Amino acid sequence: MLSVLLVGLVVFSVVASGCIGGGGGTSSTKLSGKIVFAVGGAPNEIDYWQKVISDFEKEYPGVTVELKRQATDTDQRRLDLVNALRAKSSDPDVFLMDVAWLGQFIASDWLEPLDSYVQKDNYNLSVFFQSVVNLADKQNGKLWALPVYVDAGLLYYRTDLLQKYGYSNPPETWDQLVQMAQRIQEGERASNPNFWGFVWQGQQYEGLVCDFVEYVYSNGGELGHFENGKWVPTLNKPENVQALQFMVDLIHKYKISPPNTYTEMTEEPVRLTFQQGNAAFERNWPYAWGLHNANDSPVKGKVGIAPLPHFPGHKSAATLGGWHIGINKYSDNKELAWAFVKFVESYEQQKGFAINLGWNPGRTDVYNDPDVLKAAPYLKDLRSVFENAVPRPIVPYYPQLSQIIQKYVNAALAGTMSPQDALDQAQKEAENLVQQYG
Ligand code: GLC
Repeated sequence: MLSVLLVGLVVFSVVASGCIGGGGGTSSTKLSGKIVFAVGGAPNEIDYWQKVISDFEKEYPGVTVELKRQATDTDQRRLDLVNALRAKSSDPDVFLMDVAWLGQFIASDWLEPLDSYVQKDNYNLSVFFQSVVNLADKQNGKLWALPVYVDAGLLYYRTDLLQKYGYSNPPETWDQLVQMAQRIQEGERASNPNFWGFVWQGQQYEGLVCDFVEYVYSNGGELGHFENGKWVPTLNKPENVQALQFMVDLIHKYKISPPNTYTEMTEEPVRLTFQQGNAAFERNWPYAWGLHNANDSPVKGKVGIAPLPHFPGHKSAATLGGWHIGINKYSDNKELAWAFVKFVESYEQQKGFAINLGWNPGRTDVYNDPDVLKAAPYLKDLRSVFENAVPRPIVPYYPQLSQIIQKYVNAALAGTMSPQDALDQAQKEAENLVQQYG
């Protein structure tokens, strides 16, 4: 009886570790050949992928993974993939997709459904963020991708400067942020003319929509909502106009954000401004944490992270971002692509992403790992920020909708349109778009 039980336990633990490990060299099928993996991001992130690939190639001798370097910018990464997929190209075989455009890829039928692979390997899906998988990866009854990491907008601040100017806590409301940033900026400008109170993403691109969502939702506004399965835009709601006016004021009235916010500020310029010691506050994604605390960073050890502020009477809001891995429907080596997906999602690799890149892993079991908690302590403190993050509208025509929002929000920031006119116009165009696609 005891031996039966023991055998049972061993079998169970082998199966379980196979599932939890999510792949590795245990697969019975002999893998061979080559795949192309397309990925972009910050330069250090792309370099890190090269290491992931070498680890994978060591695990499966004889296979080759070619890294196709993409841009940092999400819109460019999307266009690069769209071009290949529209042409039904078998390369890249496997790639990362922004949660923002996953809906378009699924609706366009460009992805290989993963259900049969999951079933065949008895692959454990319960380790992933269920809310994210259900929201983004599972659509029309099928599984199309898996989350590699989950992003949410955060407020970074200089702990040393808050202390120097007598503040014991980061700001909770946007008004408090303005007051603190103005004072610190005034004081620091005496010795550093390049110093700014608050830096964030304002260029005309996807990142601007993410920032806009955070002001809008932290003012009780919304971009739109579903009614009977159809998305209804509400872009020019008074709360949204107020939120956009505030974004404009950060640059033009309070003058705590630089004028190049609307011409140049994407994630990396924002991060570098803060990292070079030229800003008190920064809005960015979790990836900035690791770089701010790297050995060569001038602000190492002087950085705090908090939820983004909110408007009075409302709650803080963070945009849900993040990247998901999926397989090209036209790939000619889907077995190898699936092995690579499992490898990227394995406990070890996910842990590596958290420790080396500061990413929030897509699988939740990694969050209890002591090494991970040491490298990214905010993961525990800010869990609710990630759990309550606000998704951008999950509709197949999101890229087109985003173009409209980007254009008009940016025009308001540049001062060429009033926030009201900009959002009225955006609303009109969004209504036409929904009519056309919805
Ligand atoms: C980050 C987010 C992504 C977002 C992009 C905007 O990469 O993960 O979801 O669309 O930033 O620049």
